[in-house]
Amino acid sequence: MRVAVVQTNPVFGKRQENIERTLDRMASLAADLYVLPELCTTGYSFNDKDEAESLAEKADGRTFERYSQFAHEHETYVVYGFAEKAEVLYNASLLVGPDGLIGLYRKVHLFDREKLFFTPGNLGFPVYKTSFGPIGMMICFDWLFPESARSLALKGAQLIAHPANLVLPYCPDALVTRCLENHVFTATADRVGSEQRGGVSLSFIGSSEIVDQNGNVLLRLSQTEEQIASADIDLSQASNKRINERNDVLADRRPDQYTA
Ligand code: ACM
Repeated sequence: MRVAVVQTNPVFGKRQENIERTLDRMASLAADLYVLPELCTTGYSFNDKDEAESLAEKADGRTFERYSQFAHEHETYVVYGFAEKAEVLYNASLLVGPDGLIGLYRKVHLFDREKLFFTPGNLGFPVYKTSFGPIGMMICFDWLFPESARSLALKGAQLIAHPANLVLPYCPDALVTRCLENHVFTATADRVGSEQRGGVSLSFIGSSEIVDQNGNVLLRLSQTEEQIASADIDLSQASNKRINERNDVLADRRPDQYTA
């Protein structure tokens, strides 16, 4: 399958404009799955909870309509991050396919000021079937917790779609280990640019990447530019968990020896 990561620089609060810009970029490169950044339609740094609430929307709202229309027209899959308005607010991502909504993920590990606006995710780490193989999602800071990727791998994910708004510099290299220790592919779509909001200045590191099940970085994008790029991968390679004749990264685990 051909997986594309879409690296963007959203204008804060301009939801409709941001959606249309990503769709234009996606239309410029054919792919079977497009992964977009975390909160890619709203921007990241809300001034306060009221502002987050005013920009959040239901999972089946206008953003879903536009991306699912694209997925239908191009017979493809899209993963995008958005601010979800449910009974509370979640930092969420959706997987949509040619026939509409496939699955929702709500960010489990909230980063810094996100805790002022969002409630931690309550869906665990679901894995969803697609015609290419099982796909799971994690969002940005979830990378720091090895349990996120491990949970997805134990549930059978062969690819982890990873919308991000990275500010710390460590993730692109750390994901090499996440892929290797789980024998899964990751596709991280990060944003670039900066935001000065809520009394805080944040710069986002770009460096979106696709890493294979052996930890090879298949592509890594610029730290500063909006870009789109794709890699051709065979997801079934992630179902082989062996690293040699006697070792298997999942079967050799010793949960009885670990502390939860
Ligand atoms: C982050 O989780 N957006 C750093």
